Amino acid sequence: MDEFRSIDRSGSNAEKYTLREKLFHTEAVIPMWVADMDLATPECVIHALQKRLLHPVVGYEIMSERAFMSQIHWMREHHSFDIKREWLSYSPSVVASIGCAIRALSEVGDEVIVMDPVYPPFYSMVKENNRQLLLHSLKQDREGRYHFDIDLLRSQITPKTKLLLLCSPHNPIGRVWSRDELLTLGALCLEHGIRIISDEIHSDIVYIPHIHTPIAALSDKLLANTITLIGPGKTFNMAGFSISSVCIADEKVRKLYEDEAHRVHFGDGAALSHVAFETAYTEGGEWHKKLLAHLTANTQMIEKWISENPMIGWRAPEATYLAWLDCRALGLGDRELREFFVHKAGLGLSPGLSFGKEGSGFMRLNFAVPTTVLEEALEKLSGALRG
Ligand SMILES: Cc1ncc(COP(=O)(O)O)c(C=O)c1O
Repeated sequence: MDEFRSIDRSGSNAEKYTLREKLFHTEAVIPMWVADMDLATPECVIHALQKRLLHPVVGYEIMSERAFMSQIHWMREHHSFDIKREWLSYSPSVVASIGCAIRALSEVGDEVIVMDPVYPPFYSMVKENNRQLLLHSLKQDREGRYHFDIDLLRSQITPKTKLLLLCSPHNPIGRVWSRDELLTLGALCLEHGIRIISDEIHSDIVYIPHIHTPIAALSDKLLANTITLIGPGKTFNMAGFSISSVCIADEKVRKLYEDEAHRVHFGDGAALSHVAFETAYTEGGEWHKKLLAHLTANTQMIEKWISENPMIGWRAPEATYLAWLDCRALGLGDRELREFFVHKAGLGLSPGLSFGKEGSGFMRLNFAVPTTVLEEALEKLSGALRG
C-alpha cells in the first residue's frame, strides 16, 4: 500500500477542512494551511493503538518510563542531544508550554524577544500573558535566505528583556539555524541574562544537507539557560494526540516551570497518546525516512514549478513542510493576494501577514500532501496566474 496516498479527510473533524467555510467563505479550496499532514499517521502507531484497545479500560494513566526513554533515544540518535530522564516532563501542547514558561520565568511587563515573521501563537502567548513583545525583524539576503541581525538585536535589548522565544527550525521561513548562528544568539542571551525558550517541534523535518542543532546541546551554559520544547506531533503526523515534552536541565528553572504547570494542571496526558508517543519514537524510524524522501520530492516539484512561474519566488525550505511563497511580484495588496489564492486559484493557504508584518506579500503553503494533490494545486495556481 502506498504510505503517502491520498486520503479523504473532509468528513472528519480535521480543522483544516472543517473551518474552510469560516475562514475562506467557501469550501471550494484545497486546504493547505494548518501545519498537519494530509498523509496517514504511521501504521505502526495505528496498530499499537488497536492493540491497546483490546484492553477495555481506558482510565487515567501516567506516561511510562519506556515512553520517555524512547524519546531520549530518538534525540540521541537524531540530534546528538543527551537528555537525562529527570529533565523531561509531559505537556499537552508546545504552545501551552510556551505560555507556562513565559509565566514561570518572567514578570508582567517584561519583554520577550520574538522574531518576525513567526508562528502566530508566539505573539499571542506573550501578549495574553501581559508581557511586552520585543520584535526583531528577520531579513532576507540576496539569495532570499533569512537572517537575524545580532548587532541590531543587541541594541534592542533593555533591562526588561527577560526571554527569547526561538523557533528552531523556524516556521514559516524554513530556516535551520546554523551552529554559529545559535552560538552567537546564545552568547548574547547569556551576556544579558535572557533565558531561551526553544520551540524545536519541527526539528525532525530537516532536509539534506542541513543539520538541526538543539541550542541547549551547544554548551553547559546554554543547557542551563534553555527550555527545549520537543514532540512527535509534526514528525509522525500525530498532532491530534496532544502530546509533547519539555526538557529543562537546570533544577531551579525546572521547579519554576513545573510549579506553573501544576497550577494549570497539565496532568499526565491521555492513555492512547502515551502509546502513540512511545510507538512512534520506537518503531517509526523507517516511516520517517520515507516521509523525508516524499517531502523532498514535493519540494523538487515546487522548485521546478517556480522555475516555470517566476512571478512567484521562494527559497526551498531547509526544514518543515511549509513553503514560504514570495508573491510580491504580483503587485497585490495582502487582502487582494488572499482573495486571488482563494477565488482565482482555489487554494486555502495561510496569509503571510498572519505571521507578522514581515510576512506581507507572502503566502505559506503546506506541502505535506500526496504528490497528486500538490500537482493539482500547482496546476490551479498556474491557471490563476495565466488568467
Ligand atoms: C513552531 C510551532 N510550534 C508549536 C506548534 C503547535 O504545537 P502544539 O500543537 O503542540 O501546541 C506548531 C504547529 O504548527 C508550530 O509550527
